[in-house]
Amino acid sequence: MNKPPKNDVFVQRTASFIDLQPTNESFEEAIICGLSGEKKSLPSKFFYDARGSRLFDEICVTPEYYPTRTEIGILAKIGSELANMIPERSQLIEFGAGNSTKVRLVLRAVQRFDSYVAIDISGEYLQKVANELASDFPEIKVTALCADYTRLFELPDADHHDGPARVGFFPGSTIGNLTSEGAITFLRNIGHLLGDGAGFIVGADLLKDEKILLAAYNDSLGVTAAFNLNILHRINRELEANFVPEYFSHTAIFNPEKERMEMHLTSLRDQTVRLAGRDFHFAKDEAIHTENSHKYTIKGFGELLEAAGHKPLKAWTDPEGLFSVHFARIGVAG
Ligand code: AVJ
Repeated sequence: MNKPPKNDVFVQRTASFIDLQPTNESFEEAIICGLSGEKKSLPSKFFYDARGSRLFDEICVTPEYYPTRTEIGILAKIGSELANMIPERSQLIEFGAGNSTKVRLVLRAVQRFDSYVAIDISGEYLQKVANELASDFPEIKVTALCADYTRLFELPDADHHDGPARVGFFPGSTIGNLTSEGAITFLRNIGHLLGDGAGFIVGADLLKDEKILLAAYNDSLGVTAAFNLNILHRINRELEANFVPEYFSHTAIFNPEKERMEMHLTSLRDQTVRLAGRDFHFAKDEAIHTENSHKYTIKGFGELLEAAGHKPLKAWTDPEGLFSVHFARIGVAG
């Protein structure tokens, strides 16, 4: 049951918005760097401009992309078990807030939170979603923090002494975008940010039949292709480049040694692209590596949490073993 607000004075119907201007410093530099190497690549975090975020939401409802609906199914079942591990009046902090479907479910099912901090790189979208959430959950103080959470080392206004108990929330298997080294560094940073003893709820996609994986990243409506190609539109717009997106095609493959899905943009012809005053050459069939999406076993993911110094307490999966949700205690591994 939702707690009624004690007094209208404390009812907050819009989210506070804090903009740390995450992309300005690094977009151009990162793109030029990625396209200058021997093997070309683009960081996947730049998929999520306003259109990219919308396309990702569309991916999540394609019949082939099982992770979102499977994780939602798991979260819907484990609310009371999570509640047992989370103190009253905790603060929920989400890394990569997206469209809020999952956090709404967790806020309702767990009933332990009186504040929520949504961190996302896509500012416009974040503000809209956070305001909707604030008006739907008037008893919860909502803060939208526009930041690149891979570079965020402290929360603004963090009160380390008598602040609320914190619980991090990192659903979607977004952690899979990082290599295991990157994931461990990231999990350590999150540990500093949340503090020892905090809770951490994290989603991890599981290794499975390659056919299911390939279909999930090659949906028949072509939404994933549009999502992948959108980064070229974004570079054109923001860096005055002249990519012709039609001259590239979306490719998604499973890399069995590295246990990950990979997305690439493959050049359909020999071509030169002008970008921020420089020329970049693409040979026919040359690929730009745009994303890794690592897949785990439940045990392997627990070991990753431990390697970062956290204690995995419990993991849940769906009946088909497609996806997993883990609860860990920050900074208290054996
Ligand atoms: C949001 C990073 C979890 O890796 O599956 C979806 C992004 N890429 N389809 C994933 C994505 C292609 C997604 N994550």
